[in-house]
Amino acid sequence: MSPLGFLMTYVKRHKWQYILGIITLFIVDYANLFIPELTGEVTDGLTARTMDMNGVMITVLKILALGLTLAIGRFFWRYFLFGSARTIEKEIRDDMFAHLETMDVEYYNSHKTGDLMTRFTSDLNSIRMSIGPAIISIFDATVMALMVIIQMMVYVNVKLTLMTLVPMLIIMVGEIYYGKVMHGKYRQRQEAVSDLTDFVQESFSGIRVIKAFVRERRQLKEFAKANQNAMDKNLSIARWQSVVNPLLTVVIGSSSLITLIYGGYLALVGDITLGRFVAFHQYVNMLVWPMIACGDAINMFSQGFASAKRIQEVFAEQPEVADGEKTKPVPELKGNITFNHLTFIHKGMSEPTLKDVCLDVPAGTTLAIIGRTGNGKSTLVNLLLHLYNTKPGMILLDRTDINDIPLHTLRENIAYVPQDNFLFSDTLASNIAFGTHEKSMERIVEASRAACIHDNIIEFPEGYETVVGERGVTLSGGQKQRSSIARALIKDAPILILDDALSAVDTDTEEHILKNLKETRAGKTNIIIAHRVSTIQGADVIMVLEDGAAAEIGSHRELMQKGGIYAEMFEKQQLEAEIGEQQAAIRRDIDSVSAKGATV
Ligand SMILES: Nc1ncnc2c1ncn2[C@@H]1O[C@H](COP(=O)(O)OP(=O)(O)O)[C@@H](O)[C@H]1O
Ligand SMILES: [Mg+2]
Repeated sequence: MSPLGFLMTYVKRHKWQYILGIITLFIVDYANLFIPELTGEVTDGLTARTMDMNGVMITVLKILALGLTLAIGRFFWRYFLFGSARTIEKEIRDDMFAHLETMDVEYYNSHKTGDLMTRFTSDLNSIRMSIGPAIISIFDATVMALMVIIQMMVYVNVKLTLMTLVPMLIIMVGEIYYGKVMHGKYRQRQEAVSDLTDFVQESFSGIRVIKAFVRERRQLKEFAKANQNAMDKNLSIARWQSVVNPLLTVVIGSSSLITLIYGGYLALVGDITLGRFVAFHQYVNMLVWPMIACGDAINMFSQGFASAKRIQEVFAEQPEVADGEKTKPVPELKGNITFNHLTFIHKGMSEPTLKDVCLDVPAGTTLAIIGRTGNGKSTLVNLLLHLYNTKPGMILLDRTDINDIPLHTLRENIAYVPQDNFLFSDTLASNIAFGTHEKSMERIVEASRAACIHDNIIEFPEGYETVVGERGVTLSGGQKQRSSIARALIKDAPILILDDALSAVDTDTEEHILKNLKETRAGKTNIIIAHRVSTIQGADVIMVLEDGAAAEIGSHRELMQKGGIYAEMFEKQQLEAEIGEQQAAIRRDIDSVSAKGATV
């Protein structure tokens, strides 16, 4: 679809507003025409002394009435046309947000936030200009120009009119070419603005890293480059505009000269009256505005179409992860998970991230996954959440292929604590209740207690009403993790996934949370990913992921007896813990010795 076609689908929905707006616009332009005619009448009447003071007053009253009609008309066309443009802007924005929400994680992996933001702001702005002010200008200008020209021909002189029009025709041809050039320039400008927005957005998100590495200067240099680029693109547009606008005045001026010379001659020889000569001059001046308005409108259209194209690009992308034809409602899920020769390659990678993973997790059991970073633990649970597509039959939930379970149902049934937990700029209560419809304080507190975050929360002056995230209090890593756990627990879903969600929590608190989980999640399926053996010892089944393959599967006891990777990990971590304790003891001894030394 062309950008124009795209915009028309929205404009069509408001066709009555547009029609009414354009009709009122037409009436206003038509009424406008009579003012020169009336002043012409007065001039002629006064010159020929056929008009007395009464006549003058009547004409003045007529002009006043016209003026009133113009004012009312102008209100209405503004109301209809600007109003529709604002409404359409909102509709496109709604549609774009709704569309982007359907896009899968892969899309966001490959698209920058800043670029998407620019489409929501500056591009939509250009679109609004092209379906509001530009449409008004183009209609107003054409209708007004046509009517003025007809009036000039009928009321004054055809030949004189045609002569003054020649320069204006040249302008029209030039403006069409100008529009084409500007379209490309606006597109480049929008891309430069996108890059700039991306850069700013990333710099602010990463400000802590920038400061810690003392990279402010380099960042500023990079920013200056992106900023310069945006300015260059804008300057290139401004250069064209600054050449075109004076050029317009020159051409219009020459029209005026022709009127003076040829019109003056016609008046002298008596072909036209002096009054008509005066009116004609006014008409020519009335053509100045339509010419400039046409240029502006073409500018706004080029800008709007360039932006519409960028927004069409967003709509053109379809999510790869979506409900398919075979997807059908499923009965209540119990939480039996089967990985059946699960192999998965990330897009753009040559090696599979997961290799032939086979495991059955009966409903109500706790599975622990352990393995070094980069071994595919997060990928495995992301696949279970159907954030990426897997081949049919590789992951089953209650014996149904997850590809055939509606995405909505699947995710409703899984409570997930992501590895990079994210809290919204909102109160803690809202953040914890984010995934449920039930927002009762009782449930929120219950979940927070189970996640061992309640005591921290009530210590904040505003308790559960404390605003966190970018606009509020900064939580520690462990507090964030525990808030995310509370958010997952309140959902009370058949399946719970903790993706390394206890890594920033101290071992005592961890033990506490695990004990709570055992009670609250009894009879439900849990998947706990960790790199500390202590976190997962109590799980029903432990899977060791090594290079994307399930290297060992079994209970803690079985794996210890086997004496493989798990046992080695366990002993190593045990040893580390013991060394840690010994070091702590030595430090205590030194402290007490030096304390004694100080007292001696
Ligand atoms: N979106 C992605 N695209 C390409 N490769 C990815 C993507 N996500 C993760 N990977 C790669 O997959 C491997 C496993 O990552 P991950 O599942 O996060 O490991 P873990 O959670 O065990 O630390 C890593 O090598 C990582 O680089
Ligand atoms: Mg991970």
